[in-house]
Amino acid sequence: MTKVEAKEAKGKLGVLVIGVGGAVASTFITGTLSVRKGFGKPIGSLTQLATIRLGKRNENRFPKIKDVVPLADLNDLVFGGWDIFSENIYDAAKHAEVLKNEDIDVVKDELQAIKPIPAVFDQKFVKRLHGTHVKPEATRWEYAQQLREDIRKFKADNGCDRIVVMWAASTEVYIPQSKEHESLAAFEKALKENNTEVIAPSMCYAYAAISEGAPFIMGAPNLCVDIPAMWELADLKKVPISGKDYKTGQTMLKTVLAPMLKTRMLGLEGWFSTNILGNRDGEVLDDPGSFKTKEVSKLSVIDSILQTETYPELYSNIYHKVRINYYPPRKDNKEGWDNIDIVGWLGYPMQLKVDFLCRDSILAAPLCLDLVLFSDLAQRCGFHGIQSWLSFYFKSPMHKPDQVPEHDLFIQHTILKNTLRKIIGEPTLDYLD
Ligand SMILES: NC(=O)c1ccc[n+]([C@@H]2O[C@H](COP(=O)([O-])OP(=O)(O)OC[C@H]3O[C@@H](n4cnc5c(N)ncnc54)[C@H](O)[C@@H]3O)[C@@H](O)[C@H]2O)c1
Repeated sequence: MTKVEAKEAKGKLGVLVIGVGGAVASTFITGTLSVRKGFGKPIGSLTQLATIRLGKRNENRFPKIKDVVPLADLNDLVFGGWDIFSENIYDAAKHAEVLKNEDIDVVKDELQAIKPIPAVFDQKFVKRLHGTHVKPEATRWEYAQQLREDIRKFKADNGCDRIVVMWAASTEVYIPQSKEHESLAAFEKALKENNTEVIAPSMCYAYAAISEGAPFIMGAPNLCVDIPAMWELADLKKVPISGKDYKTGQTMLKTVLAPMLKTRMLGLEGWFSTNILGNRDGEVLDDPGSFKTKEVSKLSVIDSILQTETYPELYSNIYHKVRINYYPPRKDNKEGWDNIDIVGWLGYPMQLKVDFLCRDSILAAPLCLDLVLFSDLAQRCGFHGIQSWLSFYFKSPMHKPDQVPEHDLFIQHTILKNTLRKIIGEPTLDYLD
């Protein structure tokens, strides 16, 4: 097995989060700071808790991933980022009402020191928010240059060796892929011409990060880095990119239950998914434009897993519906219901009901940590372009047009672990022995 040469994780790793004052970002940062001080447990994080089997079953070698894979140490992470509101991350975490005060207060000083950089914002793309901490009006090209400067300054001010940039900001309104997205030349022309119809603010951030050699992670369903122009830039700059849309709650369940139905050759007639959610994300998604972006991301999963064209007798006529309802009393504690109409032997109908009372940001935070550490690892391994081995973390895994995306959570998990085995020069497993 040829070992991938991973450069050593030396020095500080700057983690710049877009939407750093949001619920997901503040929960991720507070939790990571708390874990490294020994107060909290990193539950949900593979990089911190999971083991990896090495060798044959009878060798009994199950080390922790973090003990054999050269990941950055949590003590080397330095946090920063942008937001359209200026409050520091201590105040933002309190505001988000995800964590209890006592869990936030243990890292109060570090959180207070993280102050958002003014954001690139265009209200056309997030209709429900009115930002107050934004950069003065400029062209898209100028914005991208200012963001590049922000990254360089953060890196120098904090003595960072490397930077990762992650989007945990609001979901932008749906925009389809257009000719301006098809090549880097066309995209840069549109940036310079300030074409605000096709260049979303998130694209300015991604363009800036990749141009600065920083891996970019897209945690929302925004089109953003999922266009040929960005793939081209990522290959040119040798930068890993990944996305889209953290797979945390209802879709995570879907990507476990749908493979179960297909594995047993059970049929499916309908899948109705509804959610109530009362945080700022829920408010943003109450706007039809932002919801459409989320809906496209959530709907793609079932058809792809069930291979509807391969199994017409089981899956030719599925009614799949997804709703998200803004309901303030629940705050970040989302409730997601699924009603699944399935079909068995001789066509007899059955039903499966799932009611997931989850906590959105509690589920998303460990994914943020893993994605940051794995993206940095990918960069040090010389991987670039779309990181399909990180599909495990996304509802709508990015893929080239000639590739079929993998949605099944456990296949994604196997791909992730086999990639780690390759990185450390261990044989990949086919699980036969
Ligand atoms: N389980 C989950 O929580 C989950 C799962 C999948 C995807 N997501 C996505 O993650 C994102 C964050 O979710 P959240 O619950 O933290 O939402 P949030 O509304 O609490 O946080 C988003 C933050 O982004 C900021 N923002 C908006 N536009 C910005 C811009 N252009 N530049 C910089 N900052 C900007 C907002 O001010 C806010 O602080 C959302 O897009 C959400 O859809 C969350």
